[in-house]
Amino acid sequence: MRKLNLPPKGNSRDEVLSRLESMKNDDTDWANGRMFSLIYNAGEEVREIARQAFNLYFMENGLSPFAFPSLKKLEVEVIAMTAALLGGDAETVGSFTCGGTESIFMAVKTARDWARLARPEAKAPEMIKPVTAHPAWNKSAHYLGLKVITTPAGNDFRADAQAMAEAISENTIMIIGSAMTYPHGMVDPIEQMGEIAAAKNIWLHVDSCLGGFILPFVKKLGYNVPAFDFSVPGVTSMSADLHKYGFAAKGASTVLYCNADYRQHQYYAYADFPGGVYGTSTLTGARPGAPIAAAWAVMNYLGEEGYLKLARTAMETTKKLIDGVNAIPKLRVLGEPHATVFAIASDDINVYALSDALKTRGWVIEKQQMPACLHVTVSPFHANLADAFLDDLEKCAKQVEGIDPSELSEEAVMYGMMASMPDRSAACDFAVQYLNQLYQLE
Ligand SMILES: Cc1ncc(COP(=O)(O)O)c(C=O)c1O
Repeated sequence: MRKLNLPPKGNSRDEVLSRLESMKNDDTDWANGRMFSLIYNAGEEVREIARQAFNLYFMENGLSPFAFPSLKKLEVEVIAMTAALLGGDAETVGSFTCGGTESIFMAVKTARDWARLARPEAKAPEMIKPVTAHPAWNKSAHYLGLKVITTPAGNDFRADAQAMAEAISENTIMIIGSAMTYPHGMVDPIEQMGEIAAAKNIWLHVDSCLGGFILPFVKKLGYNVPAFDFSVPGVTSMSADLHKYGFAAKGASTVLYCNADYRQHQYYAYADFPGGVYGTSTLTGARPGAPIAAAWAVMNYLGEEGYLKLARTAMETTKKLIDGVNAIPKLRVLGEPHATVFAIASDDINVYALSDALKTRGWVIEKQQMPACLHVTVSPFHANLADAFLDDLEKCAKQVEGIDPSELSEEAVMYGMMASMPDRSAACDFAVQYLNQLYQLE
């Protein structure tokens, strides 16, 4: 890799900032809303309160609740409000983390350490995970030494609870449900999973990283949302991301447990460090205070009324988009999504070519696989753009009509990146090599 030294002398503030501004020119212009993942856009007013709170706590370090007691108070309040939203009771506890993946990592670590005591017969611990659950589960299991058993989803794109029950062995310590799933926006049959888990003393985690801050409001608005939270018997832990539909700044998620007896297995302490006894609740040591403050601020700024209003807009926009997609010849939405996330598929149109065509009109819409489809996460801000999107979608569908859709089956696409590769069998090697090359000086 080419060497880059620090500049021998500092640059002026204006010079530094203008270089940053110009580097951003190549980034996706998310604020105009023409993208359907990565950003959860509730508009500038909500962003501004997050930004101000973020700046107030720009330097603070949540590692020490003694130095910064206000951060401890903010975290405890964020966790308590999240628990109340997700059917928790006075026993429900949790921690603030930097994102969905850290929440999931902590849940796997906590379940593993709990099982060492509560399920000693599970000598080689296993997790059962529907194929539609997020890869952060595979990643955490990989880091923490659990084997993953993957079970199928049904034709409705929801987890097949029966298949999960049949996959249970003496080594099963944990099963996963999602509310909602990232690829298709479904709520898994959590009640059935709760029965399965409770009957066999197995940990059930509900991954609400995506749905935790939208499903409760969608339900309150009167839409049909299957039971998915702590009110379901057998649910041991949950995760819910504030940096998604909580509309907070990035770096904000929660992991919750039905009581403190479970959560104690999350904590880590080390007594023999000359710097003092070290005890931390989550993976990180130093913890940025800013995302905690921004999350707390947005929650208090919006309140239930604000979140309900945003959820109503997002749901009405989703309905308009789903109806619009289904009305375009040869396109369809997969299954019957429960809230504001869905996927566009086709038997006759090459949807990856469709995504590329939409890109030339300024729309960023991610490719998914198994089956090939396109990902749509609807933000309230999309209300301003639904007509324009449907119009361009119809035009692009016509434009790519001649391209063979069968070419899709072998293609592998990268999650979170607008990239695809011709051969899925080599996809993992490719992804590692790709990342190896990616982070280089230009
Ligand atoms: C259901 C689900 N779980 C976990 C994650 C991982 O969250 P993060 O990207 O914040 O680590 C995501 C991200 O989209 C998700 O949709």
